[in-house]
Amino acid sequence: MKYFPAFLDLSDRPALLVGGGEPAARKLRLLRKAGARVTVVAPQAVAEITALADGGQIVLHRRPFRPRDLRGQVLAVSATAVDGVDRAVAEAAKAAGLPVNVVDRPDLSTFVTPAIVDRGQVVIGISTGGAAPVLARRLRTAIEAALPARLGRLARFAETFRSAVAATVPDGRARRVFWESFFDGPVARRVLAGQENVAREAMLSLVNRRSSGQALKGGVTMVGAGPGDPDLLTLRALSALQTADAVVYDRLVGPEIVDRARRDAERIYVGKAKGDHSADQDEINALLLSLARAGKRVVRLKGGDPFIFGRGGEEAEFLRRHGVEVDFVPGITAAAGCAAAAGIPLTHRGLAQAVTFVTGHGADGEPDLDWAALARAGHTVAIYIGLSTAGRLAQQLIDHGRAASTPVAVVSRGTLPDQRIEIGTLDTLEAMIRNREIEGPALILIGEVVSLAAAAALADAVPLQAAG
Ligand SMILES: C[S@@+](CC[C@H](N)C(=O)[O-])C[C@H]1O[C@@H](n2cnc3c(N)ncnc32)[C@H](O)[C@@H]1O
Repeated sequence: MKYFPAFLDLSDRPALLVGGGEPAARKLRLLRKAGARVTVVAPQAVAEITALADGGQIVLHRRPFRPRDLRGQVLAVSATAVDGVDRAVAEAAKAAGLPVNVVDRPDLSTFVTPAIVDRGQVVIGISTGGAAPVLARRLRTAIEAALPARLGRLARFAETFRSAVAATVPDGRARRVFWESFFDGPVARRVLAGQENVAREAMLSLVNRRSSGQALKGGVTMVGAGPGDPDLLTLRALSALQTADAVVYDRLVGPEIVDRARRDAERIYVGKAKGDHSADQDEINALLLSLARAGKRVVRLKGGDPFIFGRGGEEAEFLRRHGVEVDFVPGITAAAGCAAAAGIPLTHRGLAQAVTFVTGHGADGEPDLDWAALARAGHTVAIYIGLSTAGRLAQQLIDHGRAASTPVAVVSRGTLPDQRIEIGTLDTLEAMIRNREIEGPALILIGEVVSLAAAAALADAVPLQAAG
């Protein structure tokens, strides 16, 4: 380790900044964020600095640096990019026993400022000891992407409950376990989702339950796994998976996604393929209930979004009726994933002003839909679970006035490595599915917007004769 990592408390303390250019402005922002009372010394300064001086938020001396500027300061930063000046500041600060940082000159500095990830009270500093600042910035980008935006709020939220928790859970080890399960659990997820009021009530009941000696309750988080590509999981879905005790997942959720769960999490497959009912809905409900009642944090992982043809609402209703807390993490639904994969905008000025998601399967076969509305031009129809009824659905649309030549796309296993995109027209849809042996899961997109499908997909398409 080349540098000693430390965080300085500069709140309401005087700091000197020498230089008035853009690099100085960047340092000034950081010093002010940390609450320092900053004095800037520079013959000229950029507008951002002069505006702060005019507003009385900093002191600005419009002249060259003098060693006595250091008097009374707790730290100095030089950002002039003029070797002689930077050197003079560094030497004077060292002589005065003050920590000094010279921008881009670790050789003159007694401390360096790391690349930072700033989430309010939570700050992560990354340093490569001056060896590779670009690498530090890349690491920062990776960490930025992995950390929820409201992490600082979560830290503040936890802080407000610290003394209440200390009073209810006096034993240090038990308290640590409490906080660990808090940070992994649904209350923390609510804070991260910006629902602090709901979280506060849930936290109060959590603390009260502890004080009355009751066991911690389990809960179910209903998580959308997206259309298939594991990189399309949301950050929140990933965090729920990584803190789950049990993951209950469907057929549409591939192994690469289930593998993102915490290593020790129990993984339970409840997939339902057509004609193979591995677990029926009542069994799934009962399983979720028993896992939650055993105090487990359960992730109910569903393909796409749990609330779009996913029966997420039914499962949640059942669990809530039985007193189990349920929260939700949305996922990218198949229509959005497949449209992006095929380069088809679902709405597009001049081509489609509306999009409707429909299921191709009603409770007993073909669904009862408002065909006249769906048949209107300028309207994109995304059909889920529609391969086996596609011909009849297409005919209904044509019978209700949609042009037989309306372009259609069938995207099978969208976003997965073996994804297929087939393009045709409404009257050839059934023949295309049969002749090209398209298998599910597949999503059918109907509408003028399909003409905008990525050029590559269009080039692959083989023209077809109309069905019948
Ligand atoms: C029971 S629904 C579940 C939908 C899911 N909740 C969602 O929001 O995407 C299953 C249907 O979604 C569509 N689907 C799901 N994943 C797909 C994928 N990767 N490619 C194409 N269609 C997909 C298919 O139409 C499939 O029959």
